[in-house]
Amino acid sequence: MIASENYLADGVFHEPDGQVLGFSITRLVADEAEILTIAIDPRARQQGMGRQLLETQIGGLVRKGIRRIMLEVEDSNEAALKLYRSFNFHRDGVRKGYYAQGRIAPADAILLSCQL
Ligand SMILES: CC(C)(COP(=O)(O)OP(=O)(O)OC[C@H]1O[C@@H](n2cnc3c(N)ncnc32)[C@H](O)[C@@H]1OP(=O)(O)O)[C@@H](O)C(=O)NCCC(=O)NCCS
Repeated sequence: MIASENYLADGVFHEPDGQVLGFSITRLVADEAEILTIAIDPRARQQGMGRQLLETQIGGLVRKGIRRIMLEVEDSNEAALKLYRSFNFHRDGVRKGYYAQGRIAPADAILLSCQL
């Protein structure tokens, strides 16, 4: 999947041993892109790596001619919401009860997008 021209993937690696500390995968369609996932190892969070990774992904998307990035995030995910807002992502809407699998109480997904 990552080798496909319709996807862009980036990673953050630990310098001495190359251990993966985080990764991000984005799907590209025409001049729009959807961030499918971005994650930093829990032990490495709040050290600026998520911001660095998102900056790298967005830079790569700009170089590929992407004009708009979209994503969805759980409404209770304060860390991700703050990160995205700091990159000028704006709320487009909400998908009620979107995260339901294996949960007693389904959670809403917030739809965000950002114009490049
Ligand atoms: C969201 C995530 C990628 C952030 O990674 P990170 O490396 O911890 O983020 P950074 O240290 O680069 O912080 C960047 C900004 O994110 C926000 N942030 C990060 N952690 C936060 C926390 N625990 N609480 C509130 N805001 C937080 C802040 O705005 C922060 O900027 P600031 O430090 O200038 O205030 C990480 O928490 C993660 O992997 N979460 C689990 C996976 C996930 O939810 N991914 C998003 C799915 S859409």
